[in-house]
Amino acid sequence: MTKDLKISPSLLSADFGNLKADLEKINRSEADWLHIDIMDGVFVPNISFGFPVLKYVAELCEKPLDVHLMIVQPEKFIREVKDLGSMMMNVHYEACPHLHRVVQQIKDAGMQAGVTLNPATPVSLLADIISDVDMVLLMSVNPGFGGQKFIPHTLNKVRELRELIARTGSQALIEVDGGVNLQTGAQLVETGADVLVAGNAVFKAPDMVDMIRQMKNLK
Ligand code: DX5
Ligand code: ZN
Repeated sequence: MTKDLKISPSLLSADFGNLKADLEKINRSEADWLHIDIMDGVFVPNISFGFPVLKYVAELCEKPLDVHLMIVQPEKFIREVKDLGSMMMNVHYEACPHLHRVVQQIKDAGMQAGVTLNPATPVSLLADIISDVDMVLLMSVNPGFGGQKFIPHTLNKVRELRELIARTGSQALIEVDGGVNLQTGAQLVETGADVLVAGNAVFKAPDMVDMIRQMKNLK
């Protein structure tokens, strides 16, 4: 069980024709953060939204921004992500040959640094960076699209990451992204996840605020 579970609703599943209404609901909910997926059509086979749109999202959203870059060379956009007022910048392990440098640059810019692993990337590859990161984001679907099915093997990765964190004394949080709903969320919390990202489960729920409250109370 996780003390102080955090919920980070994913903007990707919001109603883009009425973003303001959805963001007002997020503001008055128990959501801890807002998760923002930036895609480039290269690292992942889809394109989401860019900085001109996110500027308005950032102005309307009162929750800290948890930004997930699914792009090649994410270090090129550290300044833009910082200028949104972001709290957390997550970059993919698979997109950063010089991951240590990128993590330092994110921290030097005054943000928390998160490292993201695709489903096929082993947790053991984080051994030499885990003490430097504020969060590890485990993808529980192949990134690029909302509404996909949770990959159950992610639970083993949460367990393994929990052990790595305990062994090294790292302070990193464990966030999980993809196919998270009340059922998979309960399993993740029991296994040791600290932060749940949820797109469809939140934004397609009949009552978003109530769904976030239910997720927040998962044990
Ligand atoms: C997928 C994104 C996720 C996505 C999750 O590439 O990183 O954040 O929005 O959506 P759901 O919760 O619907 O799987
Ligand atoms: Zn994401």
